[in-house]
Amino acid sequence: MPTRAWFPTLIYCEPLQKTGLSRLNEGLAAECRQLRDFDTAGRKWSEKNYPGGYTSYASLNTLHRFSSTFTALEKKLTAHVRAYARTLELDLRGRTIAMTDCWVNIMPPTAAHSLHLHPLAFISGTYYVVTPAGCPGLKFEDPRLSKFMAAPPKLPTARPEHRTHITYPAEAGNVLLFESWLRHEVPANRIDAERISISFNFNWS
Ligand SMILES: [Fe+2]
Repeated sequence: MPTRAWFPTLIYCEPLQKTGLSRLNEGLAAECRQLRDFDTAGRKWSEKNYPGGYTSYASLNTLHRFSSTFTALEKKLTAHVRAYARTLELDLRGRTIAMTDCWVNIMPPTAAHSLHLHPLAFISGTYYVVTPAGCPGLKFEDPRLSKFMAAPPKLPTARPEHRTHITYPAEAGNVLLFESWLRHEVPANRIDAERISISFNFNWS
């Protein structure tokens, strides 16, 4: 082949652990719902900034420092982030990585999360806790989209890696990791059931 691919965008998706996911997620879901009930400031912030849903993004966003359940999750997620960083071939010799933010997202019917990225971090991700059938996945945008200028559209039959968007289904128990600059969104939840996820940022020093 005369043509080769360069500058890949890598997205990581893997189960958090091999066994015990249902039990772990039951506990996490209960704690996420408790947080929503307890977090008056977060519910108020969500009313304005996360319509229809609840996020602790602006109120309880370092959960890994205050809850043993989330501290245990942090430890497991860190192992995945290290594996992902190795695949990215990042030079972390003599450097440390750490979870800087960790927050809960509960999306009832109609809730959506518009296109965004995660500033002040190098790797971000989501862990899926409750994902009823038909709930929305995570939709990523080709980071070069703003540079395509006069490019014609892609063929309807184009391979997934040649398309401008890719959606990862939300699946309870899965860890999804991406580089923090990669824009993504969660389309509106169109089913009559709550979707729960935990999002997080990592940084290095
Ligand atoms: Fe996000």
